[in-house]
Amino acid sequence: MKNPYIPYEVKILEARYETPGDRCIKTFKVTFADEKVWDTWSHLPGQCAMVGIPGVGESMFCISSSPTEKGYLRFSIMKMGKNTTALHELEAGDSFYVRGPLGNNFPLEEWKGKNVITIGGGIGQAPLRPVIQWIRDNRDDYGELTVIYGARTSADHCFKDEFEELNSCGDACCHLAIDVEEEGWPHFVGFVPQLLMEVSPSPENAIAVTCGPPIMIKFVLQNLEKLGFTPDQVYTTLENRMKCGIGKCGRCNVGHLYVCKDGPVFSYAQIKDIPEAFA
Ligand SMILES: Cc1cc2nc3c(=O)[nH]c(=O)nc-3n(C[C@H](O)[C@H](O)[C@H](O)COP(=O)(O)OP(=O)(O)OC[C@H]3O[C@@H](n4cnc5c(N)ncnc54)[C@H](O)[C@@H]3O)c2cc1C
Ligand code: FES
Repeated sequence: MKNPYIPYEVKILEARYETPGDRCIKTFKVTFADEKVWDTWSHLPGQCAMVGIPGVGESMFCISSSPTEKGYLRFSIMKMGKNTTALHELEAGDSFYVRGPLGNNFPLEEWKGKNVITIGGGIGQAPLRPVIQWIRDNRDDYGELTVIYGARTSADHCFKDEFEELNSCGDACCHLAIDVEEEGWPHFVGFVPQLLMEVSPSPENAIAVTCGPPIMIKFVLQNLEKLGFTPDQVYTTLENRMKCGIGKCGRCNVGHLYVCKDGPVFSYAQIKDIPEAFA
């Protein structure tokens, strides 16, 4: 069995900024330096990996590509501190290290035949992107796909070009929001929980999956309940601080759960009675 602390080297195929500013987001498309790793690697939407540079550090990131996208992985990384700043300095041709895949995944097999609504805010769209891509690549297995996504400004939207393409090809119905009015913005102005009520998806035969800032998640969950979604129809992914990523250090607990090992994906039914889950 492979030692879970030993990372794989990956080479950057492409590095591009999704958003500008102090907390800019950069997406890295990477492949394993040793091509043979692809023979044993398998991940599912929702799973994560520890990503880092030796001598700098490592941090947890969701894998923002779907396993249906072959030959590469993507990580979409917001510049926050030491490790992410060092990662942002890397460009195509450079390397970093990946330990994983870690954690559980969205139960997409169980969702077959259902309508799926993704509700994201800011960098919280990163773990939802592989869900959307997986459904697109297995389109006949799922019902309607509704994408609800918001960020502070239009420049802060990740994966901008993909929403236009999703709408125009008919694979999904996308609803975009920004927090405050901008000249020429044709979509919703306001917060994501408000946009959710405006779109008002039916809970019948549906699953809702949400990720974003804790305050957004709190109001999205309340609004989903108002719309008639039951806790077992709602999923989220938690992003508690982590160290080992494999259930050994006790850094990431919420209640009796280890987010790294039992999660990061949880149904609302699993965590609704654990107040720290939404702190
Ligand atoms: C399961 C999981 C999935 C994640 N997926 C992504 C992703 O796809 N893209 C992405 O950009 N980030 C993601 N994160 C968050 C990412 O791990 C942190 O931003 C990263 O660890 C920061 O590392 P750093 O060394 O640059 O910052 P540090 O120097 O460690 O910290 C800089 C600042 O960020 C804060 N911070 C650090 N970690 C977190 C955290 N987990 N939550 C809130 N604040 C934090 C610190 O308090 C500090 O203020 C994820 C976290 C988890 C646990
Ligand atoms: S990060 Fe170590 S136990 Fe979860």
